[in-house]
Amino acid sequence: MSGPVVLITGALTGIGRATALTFAREGARLVVSGRRDEVGQALVEELRGLGAEAEYVRADVRLEDDVRNLLDQAVSRFGRVDVAVNNAGTEGTPGAVTDQTAETYAATFDTNVLGVLLSLKHELQVMRAQGAGAIVNVSSAYGHVGGAYASVYVASKHAVEGLTKSAALEAAGYGVRVNAVAPGPIETGMLDRFTGNEENKAGLTAQVAMKRVGTAQEIADTIVFIASSKATYITGQSFGVDGGFRA
Ligand SMILES: NC(=O)c1ccc[n+]([C@@H]2O[C@H](COP(=O)([O-])OP(=O)(O)OC[C@H]3O[C@@H](n4cnc5c(N)ncnc54)[C@H](OP(=O)(O)O)[C@@H]3O)[C@@H](O)[C@H]2O)c1
Repeated sequence: MSGPVVLITGALTGIGRATALTFAREGARLVVSGRRDEVGQALVEELRGLGAEAEYVRADVRLEDDVRNLLDQAVSRFGRVDVAVNNAGTEGTPGAVTDQTAETYAATFDTNVLGVLLSLKHELQVMRAQGAGAIVNVSSAYGHVGGAYASVYVASKHAVEGLTKSAALEAAGYGVRVNAVAPGPIETGMLDRFTGNEENKAGLTAQVAMKRVGTAQEIADTIVFIASSKATYITGQSFGVDGGFRA
């Protein structure tokens, strides 16, 4: 009767937004979340315009009550959650290790690590009861290699890789797959904020074998594949989508 129920955090911009639109075109039912209600409602209207059933739920992933409510709302609206995309993330405060503080560390880790942990916790509770589900965490190429002037972000994405593998080992026992996608530089607002200027952006692009940044659509297409019935034997993996950045 209806397509899978897909929940996406940080869905209002960039990779999250492209992923929501792609799932909608594939016939999914969507719960999109973020922190800006007007933008969230506008996205829902766009998704409905594509023929998808869609709801917006406000959720700051740093807050457990928000995350719990997000899952409660999704289950009360659609009865289940088949796919969860933990995409919300922040670049934090790029800069030298010697300039980092307890505050820049906490601000980055609260969203990128605690946010993914809380999301996994509440998504897995729902999916364990269903005995089925697929989760995709949005990590980074920087979850695998170091990056000068990006130490805290790099550390946070390495943590996402660890959470992904550990959750996958637990969840395999009850029929749920947990994987990560690890994008290289992707044309979104985050990349512009992270690089700060065109010269830095060109420098980062030069480190990519394909000599271009990727698109949010290229990440969305990979997420849809990992979550799909074409990937049923894949769990605990991290998929580099980075134009050869890590090759
Ligand atoms: N672009 C790249 O080059 C790149 C490369 C590797 C990995 N990634 C990862 O891809 C993911 C998406 O980033 P993007 O590139 O699409 O950038 P983006 O457009 O800035 O998207 C990040 C989204 O996360 C949301 N968010 C941030 N903190 C949040 C919180 N505490 N609670 C809920 N939502 C929150 C943001 O909402 P607000 O507007 O409210 O802040 C925003 O919608 C991130 O996890 C990022 O680390 C990006």
